[in-house]
Amino acid sequence: MREMVFWNAGWLPVLLVSGAVFVVGVVLLARLALQNKRREASVARERSAVAQTAEPRRTVVDAQTDQPSEPLPTQIGHYRIEKKLGRGAMGEVYLGRDSETGTLAAIKTLALSQAFAPDELADARARFFREAETAGRLHHPDIVAILDAGEDGGLAFIAMEFVAGSDLRPFTRPDSLLPFAEVASIGARIAEALAYAHANNVVHRDVKPANVMYDPETRQLRVMDFGVARITDSSHTRTGMVLGTPSYMSPEQLLGKKVDGRSDLYSLGVMLYQLTCGQLPFVGQSMGQLMSRIANEACPDVRALNPQVPEALANVIERATRKDAAQRFPSGDEMARALRVCCAAAIDAGDEKL
Ligand SMILES: Nc1ncnc2c1ncn2[C@@H]1O[C@H](COP(=O)(O)OP(=O)(O)OP(=O)(O)O)[C@@H](O)[C@H]1O
Ligand SMILES: [Mg+2]
Repeated sequence: MREMVFWNAGWLPVLLVSGAVFVVGVVLLARLALQNKRREASVARERSAVAQTAEPRRTVVDAQTDQPSEPLPTQIGHYRIEKKLGRGAMGEVYLGRDSETGTLAAIKTLALSQAFAPDELADARARFFREAETAGRLHHPDIVAILDAGEDGGLAFIAMEFVAGSDLRPFTRPDSLLPFAEVASIGARIAEALAYAHANNVVHRDVKPANVMYDPETRQLRVMDFGVARITDSSHTRTGMVLGTPSYMSPEQLLGKKVDGRSDLYSLGVMLYQLTCGQLPFVGQSMGQLMSRIANEACPDVRALNPQVPEALANVIERATRKDAAQRFPSGDEMARALRVCCAAAIDAGDEKL
């Protein structure tokens, strides 16, 4: 008993102190671990935000030319630059505000002297403004309006109507497809916009989901980049900048043949294929394999990939994507009519009302 008292009296303070030290240590370690975890989580959040906002590169650019982007310019022409919107084959795209009117615009830039050899520069500059002017002559409710074109400090630019929202890429994923009636309606509107451009002797040459802005809430739609594919035509660039995805290109376009409006209708057919089943008709391990498949292999039936696709819609897609241009729809208007019939039938069959 005395031993117990002695023990209690002598060792208790030591035990209390070491216990307290132990507890403080554990608390400190826990706080450190928590701080570390928070830091890791915030880095992960930042990374994922960057991954989500960064413009996915769908363009393969010659490794030597794929340099980090320039710092944000403050002014281009009479537009005050507010932020960067994205980057495409041609160059950076900025959000600008007209210093005089306050109107917002998307400013598409091309560093001519970087993209073209000195002896090609004059020709490239002339072609740039010719294409901008041609696109600027198109006035259609579903075609993005061109506001201005110019050159500022070696930077050629096209200012166009700023379109809020996103392009059609998110709706090409198998888990986020739009209702068939809506896809048919979107297709009809694009086909009509193309018909209008073709009637004005403009072939788009780069019809793809990234070039169509669409808002499912308001159903606002804008086809973008008429003529831009011709400006960035690989055969004219110094550095071998090539369009990275030939997935939407018609066989005749891939083979470098002369193209007309039916080539755009083929591309629209591929787009509708992807919007209805969430997959592209042709994929390849390499650019060469992909190009060879587009040129030679029959387009797989979209209903084999998604049996829900209405037969009439699958038939429109099949006709639009035929290898021989003569067997496709002869005009955008005719394709639009066929798509409107599909839209009405899909609504009758219980698809979402438009
Ligand atoms: N008029 C516009 N309004 C709003 N955003 C735009 C407009 N034009 C382009 N953008 C934004 O800039 C991005 C890059 O556009 P850009 O046309 O240069 O490239 P892309 O269409 O993605 O590819 P490609 O160069 O092969 O056509 C687009 O994805 C879009 O986010
Ligand atoms: Mg584009």
